[in-house]
Amino acid sequence: MSDGATARGSATEREEARKTAEGLEHLSGFGNEHSSEAVPGALPVGRNSPQRAPLGLYAEQLSGSAFTEPRAVNRRSWLYRIRPSAAHPAFTRTGNGTLRSAPFTQTVPDPNRLRWNPLPAPAEGTDFLAGLWTLGGNGDVTQRSGMAVHLYHANTTMRRVFSDADGELLIVPERGGLLLRTEFGLLHVEPGHIALIPRGVRFRVELLDETARGYVCENYGAPFRLPDLGPIGANGLANARDFRAPVAAYEDVEGPVEVVNKFCGNLWAATYDHSPLDVVAWHGNYVPYAYDLRRFNVMGTISYDHPDPSIFTVLTSPSDSPGLAGVDFVVFAPRWLVGEDTFRPPYFHRNVMSEYMGLIEGAYDAKTAGKGGFVPGGGSLHNMMSAHGPDRETFDRASAAELKPQKIDDGLAFMFETRWPVSLTPQAARAEHLQQGYDGVWQGLERHFRPLH
Ligand SMILES: [Fe+2]
Repeated sequence: MSDGATARGSATEREEARKTAEGLEHLSGFGNEHSSEAVPGALPVGRNSPQRAPLGLYAEQLSGSAFTEPRAVNRRSWLYRIRPSAAHPAFTRTGNGTLRSAPFTQTVPDPNRLRWNPLPAPAEGTDFLAGLWTLGGNGDVTQRSGMAVHLYHANTTMRRVFSDADGELLIVPERGGLLLRTEFGLLHVEPGHIALIPRGVRFRVELLDETARGYVCENYGAPFRLPDLGPIGANGLANARDFRAPVAAYEDVEGPVEVVNKFCGNLWAATYDHSPLDVVAWHGNYVPYAYDLRRFNVMGTISYDHPDPSIFTVLTSPSDSPGLAGVDFVVFAPRWLVGEDTFRPPYFHRNVMSEYMGLIEGAYDAKTAGKGGFVPGGGSLHNMMSAHGPDRETFDRASAAELKPQKIDDGLAFMFETRWPVSLTPQAARAEHLQQGYDGVWQGLERHFRPLH
């Protein structure tokens, strides 16, 4: 097949995938008990594991928490599939590409403020998995603690199937729509949405546009959950009903399918004689999900001061210390600024937590937009206790601005905020797209101090 024919084939595939994506139904809610069957009668009634499961299917439990964890955080689903997951040949090691895992010990942890331009375009034929490029992270995959920051840049639909035993994958598209075919069914996300694939769930990423680019937080720790709302009350921030889970959909494919498994930091592959995306029905609360960040109900001041960014938390992965997250996912969505006598952009600060920020579209209100700055697809890292905040231009502008109500509606930024410093991979520390001279944005902040006496 010529390159032209391949390209045309891909365009047709993308068109078909988009048609599928746009007609999808979904289930609604976060952490609730869903159930779904692609074929009527496939789901057993009144028990999980009958002597003979309906329609000749195999019953199988997928546990996302220890059996004995408290009910409020217990996660598991029952899958009814054409073949049990156990029916597979041995996995053998395959190349890790540009994917890396914790512990990240190959570079000296860097206290400097760092910023990257977007990931360069990959070689032709790069699928989502091959397009994953690890920036860094913390913790240890074998201890189920910590997180990794990955970026991805892909130009080909995945043919193979992937699952990650090391953590859940929070996918944040910045460019290009994705159709995620999972064991539980299909999810459609566009830039401005997020998708979450739970630990161990098999999936394939199909492209809806010529290229796909974005960010991934691989969370090795406790599964993301919605943050407590405290005095905010019973509603607000990310509302549970806005999360989309797939309805059951299965592939009945006989023939070789490559399945790649990430396990303790390495990729392992096996060639199955069938597609493992063969779940005809399922029920449970351990499911992939998607969410449109524009649905986020933004809270903020209606009097004075810039609230701490924790008010923008979409999802949190708690640690054993109350209030101390392994990682929080935070979004800076369109909102009104009305604070009186207030420096409205994010304040100058040093944070015991470490902050990786990315930009999905537009500009971020603490940084001047434009080439060489904080641009969509790029990212910044402000590690533990590193001093940061508005750049000089933003400081000058916001200090002099007339404080009338102002709508910020030209950007969508996010943060992965984690309890431990993010150590870089060598490829991130030496990347050509690592900006030089980021410190310069805080140069020229003039001395204004004038003692009265
Ligand atoms: Fe910060």
